[in-house]
Amino acid sequence: MYQASKTRYESMPYRKCGESGLKLPAVSLGLWHNFGDNGDFDNMVAMCTTAFDLGITHFDLANNYGPVPGRAEENFGKIMASTLKPYRDELVISTKAGYTMWEGPYGDFGSRKYLIASLDQSLKRMGLEYVDIFYHHRMDPDTPLEETMGALAQIVKSGKALYAGLSNYDGETMKRASAILKDLHCPFIINQNRYSIFDRGITENGLLDAAYTEKKGVIIFSPLAQGLLTERYLKGIPDDSRVKTDGRFLKAEAVEKKQAQVLALNELAQERGQTLAQMALSWVYRQPTVTSVLIGASRPQQIIENVGMLKNCSFSQAELAKIDEIVK
Ligand SMILES: NC(=O)c1ccc[n+]([C@@H]2O[C@H](COP(=O)([O-])OP(=O)(O)OC[C@H]3O[C@@H](n4cnc5c(N)ncnc54)[C@H](OP(=O)(O)O)[C@@H]3O)[C@@H](O)[C@H]2O)c1
Repeated sequence: MYQASKTRYESMPYRKCGESGLKLPAVSLGLWHNFGDNGDFDNMVAMCTTAFDLGITHFDLANNYGPVPGRAEENFGKIMASTLKPYRDELVISTKAGYTMWEGPYGDFGSRKYLIASLDQSLKRMGLEYVDIFYHHRMDPDTPLEETMGALAQIVKSGKALYAGLSNYDGETMKRASAILKDLHCPFIINQNRYSIFDRGITENGLLDAAYTEKKGVIIFSPLAQGLLTERYLKGIPDDSRVKTDGRFLKAEAVEKKQAQVLALNELAQERGQTLAQMALSWVYRQPTVTSVLIGASRPQQIIENVGMLKNCSFSQAELAKIDEIVK
């Protein structure tokens, strides 16, 4: 039977989600890839226990993670039942709804109908009574913001989620949503958005500044640009990499296009005494508004390496300028 490491809280730092009382680990683990039908179950368990032993208390899911959609939640439910259940109160488990999940007009976007039904399905798949954070996964141009936020508030009131979050919102929309949720006394505490050395979108769409002024947390997804900002693709495209095993989101063309930049960034990381993955993560975490970096992994060793980023999270002005110059 799994016994969590006794040293699991000795070195991981935890930051509060904005001004809320909820703290998240510097590194969190996401189950978007490698937890579906194409994954090996023993490896999934090993990744979760390796993470928890290192102080990673936060596991992030969504209704549609697979393949097939829903399978990552089912597999996580099995991991909970077999391994992590005794530690439920030490874990922050999140899920989301907002992308296509089932056929017809009620399985997508942001209606009250969709969000409430989807969370019920997610809880069933994971065998949980509640999730810690429930996110609306993406902005919905067709549903009034009041309705979507009303659904989040209702979900939290029902006890099926402890906190609400928003994902992929821009700064202006997040501020409007935040005002509605405040009126509804709903504990909206965190944003989940993409940010990396290669993708500065949230500094351009106002989200990072808005999170600071609204005193909300920010958890960053794809901080490694899905593996591009690691040593994975330094010498071509390995057969067991995400590009080869699931080329839907990260494609070979992107790897080829970024090759020269990746090599230059890798040199800089070596000068800093870090791996490229560690430098990419510490570059994100250096921002005080960032609560946690949300990584994906295909094996436990990657998680161990990535947590090693905590040994050096400060950058000189010259290093920051060099990174900007490389990716210009
Ligand atoms: N809210 C949203 O819309 C949204 C969207 C996307 C993701 N997310 C969340 O964010 C999480 C992370 O996203 P992501 O998987 O794109 O993050 P990522 O950390 O940028 O990429 C993870 C991938 O990089 C590779 N990798 C990680 N560490 C490595 C290392 N040390 N050395 C070499 N390769 C390494 C692995 O790919 P290989 O398979 O090639 O080994 C791994 O699967 C997801 O699981 C999900 O929870 C949310």
